[in-house]
Amino acid sequence: MIVVLGAMDAEITEFLSVMRERKTSIWQGIEEHRGLIDGHSVLISKTGVGKAMAAMRTQHFIDKVSPSALLFTGLAGSLKLSIRIGDTVIGRDLIQHDLESKVLGLPRGQIPYSDIRFLYPDPALLALGSKYQAREGCVHLGRICTGDQFITHREMSSHAYLHNELAGDAVEMEGAAVALVCTLNQVPWLVARTISDMADEDAVSSFEEVLPRASHNSLAFVQHMLRGLSCLPA
Ligand code: ADE
Repeated sequence: MIVVLGAMDAEITEFLSVMRERKTSIWQGIEEHRGLIDGHSVLISKTGVGKAMAAMRTQHFIDKVSPSALLFTGLAGSLKLSIRIGDTVIGRDLIQHDLESKVLGLPRGQIPYSDIRFLYPDPALLALGSKYQAREGCVHLGRICTGDQFITHREMSSHAYLHNELAGDAVEMEGAAVALVCTLNQVPWLVARTISDMADEDAVSSFEEVLPRASHNSLAFVQHMLRGLSCLPA
């Protein structure tokens, strides 16, 4: 079974509209839906917003269904002028940008007392994802930076390190947490985000404008992945 997650209802709603034979259950107040998309067995759910919610629910789904792959989709802010609203960023690597232990001599994003800093998706999933051709906008492979912070203006201190220290391409609030839990559980994963804003002073209004169609591009991406996954060796 493939688990497909997004943080918010709007980020998964179109997945549900094409799901067949849907069976819904509830865990900790959040619905989870099992069924078929284009004949493939999937579990769809939202995680809730932020790293803790995303990590907790990712572990829950891994324990519950032992997925053969986990896809995380949704919206993100762009950190580069060349990456525009409507584009897709597929995570080539992810990092927790708000994990900072400089006093221990560690670079930003490094988990203390471990060698984990950047998280790398499953190579076969990344290769498959990179063949995705979006109906609108460009597709980029890039660095996704995750933190419990909605980035809204270029004067924020985080803006400087997201650009200079981390050379990030996109910023969001769940991806690296999902990636970490999957990596530790040896579950193949991939994160793909649609750009909703430029992480600047217009970010909130832009995000709110894009939110109602947040899962439109993600659905096309997930359908591309499901088609390709059925051709990959088990
Ligand atoms: N998700 C979408 N846009 C974002 C932003 N600007 N900051 C953090 N997460 C986001």
